[in-house]
Amino acid sequence: MVNKNQNNVDFGYKSVKKSDKQKLVNNVFNAVARKYDLMNDITSLGIHRSWKSDLINWIAPQSNQNLADIAGGTGDIAYKFLNSGGNSAHIFDINKEMIQVSKKKYRNINNLEWSIASAENIPALDNSFERATMSFGLRNITDRNKSLQEIYRILKPGGRFICLEFSHVENDFLKKFYDLWSFRIMPLIGDKVTGNKEAYTYLVESIRKFPTQPELSQMFSEVGFSRVKYRNLSNGIVALHSGWKI
Ligand SMILES: C[S@@+](CC[C@H](N)C(=O)[O-])C[C@H]1O[C@@H](n2cnc3c(N)ncnc32)[C@H](O)[C@@H]1O
Repeated sequence: MVNKNQNNVDFGYKSVKKSDKQKLVNNVFNAVARKYDLMNDITSLGIHRSWKSDLINWIAPQSNQNLADIAGGTGDIAYKFLNSGGNSAHIFDINKEMIQVSKKKYRNINNLEWSIASAENIPALDNSFERATMSFGLRNITDRNKSLQEIYRILKPGGRFICLEFSHVENDFLKKFYDLWSFRIMPLIGDKVTGNKEAYTYLVESIRKFPTQPELSQMFSEVGFSRVKYRNLSNGIVALHSGWKI
């Protein structure tokens, strides 16, 4: 969404200075890192697992493919990629706490690496990965265009990027229920489980401010991705966007 003040970006429903957003986002994930997986299960009623499996099914990992999982957090996507036949996975995430949780969870998994790094400046060579993913990350990034450019840069020609993100619900009845669940119930659960209501208020608001499915497709195309497509899951509660570097 366009913010009227060019020096500002959205942080949920607040408009904040571009230079302040990352710190605010880091505070959110510092606060919830230890309970992040549990909260995902509670607030999505476990459905995030099936959305993540849909992402992996669409990517269809092969034994000659190496994955960059950007904003990889506690590591679900990288793990599922390896478990479904991918060769190696590298998680890039800006938050040390989230990476620590992931390292602990997957310490016995081979061919998995981690880097503390921003999606806006990925420490990887040009043309170095066959596949890239970003799951529930893009919404939190200050300069989304820059991070899409970075993902495009590190993909090999012929490589593919799939993004899983909350999106915009298409069914009016479901939308009413979903709004009630996310604005009323989720912050309360967040408060009870993590002691941080604000973090979950931000998460819910940031979803509503995120570009629509066609707008995000357009952003993919503008940075150079080809054959851009999207699929709605759960009626658009989340969407998968796919683009190729041809
Ligand atoms: C909602 S979590 C998603 C984690 C994981 N991908 C998943 O699907 O469960 C968002 C992640 O984005 C990370 N993040 C936020 N800003 C980032 C940035 N600029 N660069 C890289 N990661 C970032 C956070 O630290 C957090 O781990």
